[in-house]
Amino acid sequence: MKGEGDMKKLTVLLVGVGGYGANYARAVLERGGEWNIALAGVVDPYAATSKYYGELVRQGARFFNTVGEFYRYNEADLAVISTPIQFHAAQAIACLERGSHVLCEKPIAATVEEARRMIDARDRSGKTLAIGYQWCYDPAMLRLKADIDAGLLGRPLAMKSIVLWPRAISYYKRGLGWAGKKYDAGGAPIFDSVASNATAHYIENMLWLAGPHFQGDDIRDMRVRTLRANDIETFDTIVMDAVTAGGAKLFYVASHAVGADGRQDPAFVYEFENAVVRYGGLGRSGGPLTAEFRDGAVKEYGGSSADGVDEKLTRAIALARGAAEPLPCPAEAAMRHTRAMAMIFEKRPEAEVFPPETVRLDDGMVWVPGLKDRLIDCYVNRKML
Ligand SMILES: NC(=O)c1ccc[n+]([C@@H]2O[C@H](COP(=O)([O-])OP(=O)(O)OC[C@H]3O[C@@H](n4cnc5c(N)ncnc54)[C@H](O)[C@@H]3O)[C@@H](O)[C@H]2O)c1
Repeated sequence: MKGEGDMKKLTVLLVGVGGYGANYARAVLERGGEWNIALAGVVDPYAATSKYYGELVRQGARFFNTVGEFYRYNEADLAVISTPIQFHAAQAIACLERGSHVLCEKPIAATVEEARRMIDARDRSGKTLAIGYQWCYDPAMLRLKADIDAGLLGRPLAMKSIVLWPRAISYYKRGLGWAGKKYDAGGAPIFDSVASNATAHYIENMLWLAGPHFQGDDIRDMRVRTLRANDIETFDTIVMDAVTAGGAKLFYVASHAVGADGRQDPAFVYEFENAVVRYGGLGRSGGPLTAEFRDGAVKEYGGSSADGVDEKLTRAIALARGAAEPLPCPAEAAMRHTRAMAMIFEKRPEAEVFPPETVRLDDGMVWVPGLKDRLIDCYVNRKML
């Protein structure tokens, strides 16, 4: 048997090291030795803005402006893409075509057509394409998923989730200023919104748990309202009442426009035939993830880690080494969310605008007084805004 020391170092390319990508930079810098990986390079034209830039330089990282520039004279076993949404498809396809396994941040892409092209590139390359919805890699969530797949909970009947995360104007202006946009200056689709970015996980998680194994389920139909208080092209507030192809009812409430004191961390209640699964709660933050069975038995699945980066990288590295492990968030599962987003924009091409007299601007944040209570009422009573 080969010992750790005999194992070939796996080379990792980081694409995007500012914003959320800084977490990947941190993980690679801190745990590279333990994982037996070597940083092949960093692709980010603005890498110097990353909080880990100094440490990357100290550890001898080589920087590139584009993926093409990197692959011209280099290769990598694994590429980790954490760039704005409009770059996911082209960069993931380029990395797969150059022989790298890919871990790409969520959402998989801006459009279903782009996601399909990524899947085609993956199939041509024979490499792995993992998408970074961290709850799919979370040990507690995976234990729940295993019980669902084993039939212990029965079919999903009604699932609902809420997340209200205040975001300032600076959030929309960060980086290249891509947040809240439909297309970039070059015409590439972005379709960034509260539901496709920060709170995308809480639609994706329902779809992921509602389908068998790691395939997920699609939304068959929905009623949806999208609204905006901020001056953006998409929406910062959404209430969605949907049904999946498998017949589970989904209800989803999310907003960035609730004001600095309006925070409600993710909470959900998922009703199955044999159990009710809960995470978080109104006025509370965080887990644990618990199932209460109809016969009174209670099962705790545990808590979740902070940003999930270590779990995602651990799994992506193992798969890149050829481990016979399942990929919990394949492109096909992640694409369910992109299809849901496409349906949202099909039903509501333009968001409704909160009347100006109901909107306030405080400390660089645009928000709607009273919106938090109205959205919680929607969540509790499963009713549209
Ligand atoms: N899993 C999560 O919980 C989570 C959380 C936040 C963001 N994200 C995802 O991460 C991705 C990035 O979001 P963000 O908020 O960090 O964005 P951001 O704009 O804050 O940062 C993006 C980074 O990519 C770099 N970049 C821009 N153009 C590039 C290019 N062409 N090539 C290489 N690098 C480029 C920027 O310089 C910056 O460092 C998005 O897909 C987002 O949905 C995931």
